[in-house]
Amino acid sequence: MLILGIDTSCDETAAAVVRDETTVLSNVISSQGIHHEYGGVVPELASRAHLSLLLPAIESALHQASCEPDGLDALAVTYGPGLAGCLLIGLTTVKSIALAMDKPLVGVNHIEGHLFAGRLADGELDPPFIALVVSGGHTQLVHVERWGTYHILGNTRDDAAGEAFDKVARLMRVGYPGGPVIDRLSRDGDPGFLDFPRTYLDPEGFEFSFSGLKNAIRMYLSKQSEAEIDRDLAHIAAAFQEAVVDVLVDKSMAAAASVGVDAVLITGGVACNGRLRERMTERGAELGFKVVYPPPILCTDNGAMIAAAGAYRFRQGQRDGLSLSVQPRARLSAYNGGLLNGQSGQSGQSGKVRSGGQSSNRSSGP
Ligand code: KG4
Ligand code: ZN
Repeated sequence: MLILGIDTSCDETAAAVVRDETTVLSNVISSQGIHHEYGGVVPELASRAHLSLLLPAIESALHQASCEPDGLDALAVTYGPGLAGCLLIGLTTVKSIALAMDKPLVGVNHIEGHLFAGRLADGELDPPFIALVVSGGHTQLVHVERWGTYHILGNTRDDAAGEAFDKVARLMRVGYPGGPVIDRLSRDGDPGFLDFPRTYLDPEGFEFSFSGLKNAIRMYLSKQSEAEIDRDLAHIAAAFQEAVVDVLVDKSMAAAASVGVDAVLITGGVACNGRLRERMTERGAELGFKVVYPPPILCTDNGAMIAAAGAYRFRQGQRDGLSLSVQPRARLSAYNGGLLNGQSGQSGQSGKVRSGGQSSNRSSGP
């Protein structure tokens, strides 16, 4: 089964071809450098960039996979969560191609895509397991009971972990996106240089908060001279990173113990972080949990994870119609996708996209 997967939820224009849920044949990511000068993603610029980058990315994904468009079994695309205008470009483009080529369309939740990056990275990763989804937009602990059945154990109450990296990097004036820069700087720093606050909220719970830490850094920086900040940059970065990593590791391990699973997946852009990977692996080994983290290209936003999740959903019978709409605030839940009462939903028996087809009955709530 060959699936084309598209993600345009934020600032990466991504297209990939995956065989089944397991084999990446191509994974093309066009990063939009345009946002660097603003220190963050500018939604309107991102959607315009998707418009010009998406078709070339799709062409190159097909070419690299040596796949003729006719050979595709289905087209999978992120419908949410993400930036509305950005999602719209991906969904409209893929709907048009599906209609023109008479191919089935499968809408994919972006967070479920991040979970399937684990499946692509480790074919032996089978539920149940705990997933820590840490990106620029999300910090979530998910109990993956089965593929398709997810229980959200905790979310962030304010900034996502990646957002905290980006904002602190901006405060430190070290560039954007902040995560990779702070990761790199920290390698030469002492994580014990300063004891920034670790916010555990309810110690028994799985909710996160990073805005207090960000403010502590803001306060600290405001009391230092520029020369002092320059001198201690690596140490400040390492101390900040350690505070984030401590909480992520502790809560992930506690979640795995409380649910009684033996594996933890870390996924999403922040899962590229070297210190997080190292500490998670160490603690996992101590406590007897297998820790899985995908290679960086599958951690940050990419089309292969959407294709893999789409392949799974396609196999389950999900088919979406042309009225599938973007859901910028879509939540990961035990949703039924285009499967209504176990029936393949809205596109008739062939599963091909038809104009006027009914949309799947998605609800944005859990
Ligand atoms: O998953 P992703 O590509 O996009 C979203 O869905 O948000 O994640 C992007 C986020 C950014 O905030 C970026 O700073 C962070 O992931 N990131 C990292 C690292 N690489 C990317 N954070 C910490 N360490 C890294 N090495
Ligand atoms: Zn993401």
